[in-house]
Amino acid sequence: MGKVLVVDDEPHLRRILLSNLRQEHHEVVEAGGVNDARRALGEYSFDAVITDQKMSDGEGLDVLAAAREADSTLSVVFLTAFATIELAVESMRRGAFDFITKPFVPEVLLASATRAIERTRLVRENKRLRDTVVRLEGSSEIVGQSAPIRRLREQIARVSPTNATVLITGETGTGKELVARAIHRNSPRADKPLVAVNCAFTETLLESELFGHERGAFTGADRAREGVFEAAHEGTLFLDEAAEMSLAAQAKLLRVLTDGLVTRLGSTRARRTDVRLIAATNRNLEQLVKDGRFREDLYYRLAVVPLTTPPLREHREDLPELCALLLEQAVRDLKTPQRRLSVESIRTLVNYDFPGNIRELRNLIERACILSVGEEITPDSFPVTAPRALESPPPPRGLAALTPVQVAEMMPESYNLREFLATLEKVVIQRALRIADGAQAEVARRLGMSRSDLSYKLGKHRIRDGDEP
Ligand SMILES: Nc1ncnc2c1ncn2[C@@H]1O[C@H](COP(=O)(O)OP(=O)(O)OP(=O)(O)O)[C@@H](O)[C@H]1O
Ligand SMILES: [Mg+2]
Repeated sequence: MGKVLVVDDEPHLRRILLSNLRQEHHEVVEAGGVNDARRALGEYSFDAVITDQKMSDGEGLDVLAAAREADSTLSVVFLTAFATIELAVESMRRGAFDFITKPFVPEVLLASATRAIERTRLVRENKRLRDTVVRLEGSSEIVGQSAPIRRLREQIARVSPTNATVLITGETGTGKELVARAIHRNSPRADKPLVAVNCAFTETLLESELFGHERGAFTGADRAREGVFEAAHEGTLFLDEAAEMSLAAQAKLLRVLTDGLVTRLGSTRARRTDVRLIAATNRNLEQLVKDGRFREDLYYRLAVVPLTTPPLREHREDLPELCALLLEQAVRDLKTPQRRLSVESIRTLVNYDFPGNIRELRNLIERACILSVGEEITPDSFPVTAPRALESPPPPRGLAALTPVQVAEMMPESYNLREFLATLEKVVIQRALRIADGAQAEVARRLGMSRSDLSYKLGKHRIRDGDEP
């Protein structure tokens, strides 16, 4: 069974062809000439074409050309009353699959149609396999020969062809998004969309982002909008920073994942969705589950296949290769003159801890490419990379002696802002509590916040009396 385009300008002959092919349960579309055939080829995808040779608006060879252009895998069978050796040779040379003379014997026609359909499918399957191989090589863009990176690549290769939901966990800048893209690219959904959504949105915005909304669903919704579930239909949906979802959004997401139906905000119509889900987070989701901040049932739905991207300090041996790649990309993207890293500067980088991982490395290299005077990049182009920069002793007079700007400037460039601010807030409150001997009213006054605000923050950061920062 296949989908066949029949091209002939004689209605009577088309009818005979149609009834023969339909008896064998093929799906048939008919065209009365070359132009008609072009239109049909643009509109549908076929498994085979059977075309007459001489028609009022052109030749079978024109149909062959149009078919090849529409889909290079398509098999074309010629049908003609003027069988000459030359025409047969010419059409075969141009890629025709078979040649049948009129008047035809139905069995011969049907056998030829079936073989044409089979050939198209084989060629397609072959092409698909070849594409997969090419694409897998393309994923070598995840660079590194260290054991953790090789393992990661193996896991990607294993999980990509499946439909399984993947949860990617890893510190900031370790390549979570890169991994998500590689999985999509190597999946059977590769030619469908990959849609990414960041879950660190406010509740209503996130829900409208995920599920879409109808006009007037909430203040400011002046137009109906499809959500990412609809946009990613038949493709892949990448939920970035998944841990940041509110509990309400988690509940709604779980429902969509359970019954495969999405309903836009403000609508009652449920639409079926078919998406492959990949989620990423730099947080410990299991811990958040224990803390009651993330739904356990949703966690299990997302973490069907858990993958971890290693921090750069755990695969330092990949640094030279990563540096070479990032340097090449920086020179190309920033259009700077040719650059190369001196041996000492690679040594400096190898000794650095990279709290911001590969993204931080990329930023450092980009900046060095721009700032470097000569072709060779020297260690002084990497000012922040004093060995183990994070573990350097605290400034002598403590936080209190520094302005907020100075504190911020001490932080590595690509520190996760949310975590940084949360840590800072916690330390400041703990310190104030210690100084005020646990007197909360005093602490609230000193820090310029209300008592209820303070007790909320104490709960949020799980600070108890006597806690050390
Ligand atoms: N193994 C790798 N090989 C080459 N480039 C990499 C690799 N890992 C990460 N990168 C690059 O590092 C940068 C950060 O990667 P990515 O955005 O995927 O990180 P992330 O884990 O999603 O970070 P965040 O949690 O901050 O969103 C990107 O420019 C990416 O191309
Ligand atoms: Mg990311």
